[in-house]
Amino acid sequence: MIVLTADIHGIMNFENIKKSGILKNLRINDYFIVCGDFGIIWDDSNPYKELLGWFDSQVFYTLFIDGNHENFTLLNKYPVTKWKGGKIHQISPKIIHLMRGQVFEIEKKSFFTFGGAFSIKRITGTSPIYTWQQEMPNPYEYKEGLKNLKLNNYKVDYILTHTAPKKWLNDINEIENKYERKLNQYLDEIEEKINYKHWYFGHFHKDISKNKYTVLYKEMAHLNGD
Ligand SMILES: [Fe+2]
Repeated sequence: MIVLTADIHGIMNFENIKKSGILKNLRINDYFIVCGDFGIIWDDSNPYKELLGWFDSQVFYTLFIDGNHENFTLLNKYPVTKWKGGKIHQISPKIIHLMRGQVFEIEKKSFFTFGGAFSIKRITGTSPIYTWQQEMPNPYEYKEGLKNLKLNNYKVDYILTHTAPKKWLNDINEIENKYERKLNQYLDEIEEKINYKHWYFGHFHKDISKNKYTVLYKEMAHLNGD
């Protein structure tokens, strides 16, 4: 079984996660996927160490794509390895970071992953913590995503991203952010090229479900068909 959410933001939403009945129902070898802003790989000390320990002690695996609220300096210190067809950072035995532009085969379903987004707080100056340039994808990651989709004949079951294609922003009552535009346009290109069943993303701190996509925040979603 696969359950998804987004934007845990470390300690901010951790208590909700801990209380979740849906997670309590997950069994060994089930998957909990966080569509960015996991925010747990943040600091080597407590309380983050304890949060990592909590996820690592669960029976299910926690998989996450990165958002903009991650400590990329720490995240990128983990060695890159391969898992179920794509590149990952293995954070611990039960916690895995699914890297950008990869295709994974999990429970016989294929997933294209593409994390990253822009922290608006970087320009408003309302928080000094958002300083990582790596929060936005680099040219190599953009290219790798297209290359891996081509290798999969432009067909996957599910797409997992942190932010959304530009074409859906209006629909979810969001306005375009010029600093994130390149990524939103790239996701538009993917949306037009790819044959897929459903797209999951987070970032906007709202829960909306439409025909072809789900915006995740506090609610948890079972993967379509699960
Ligand atoms: Fe975000």
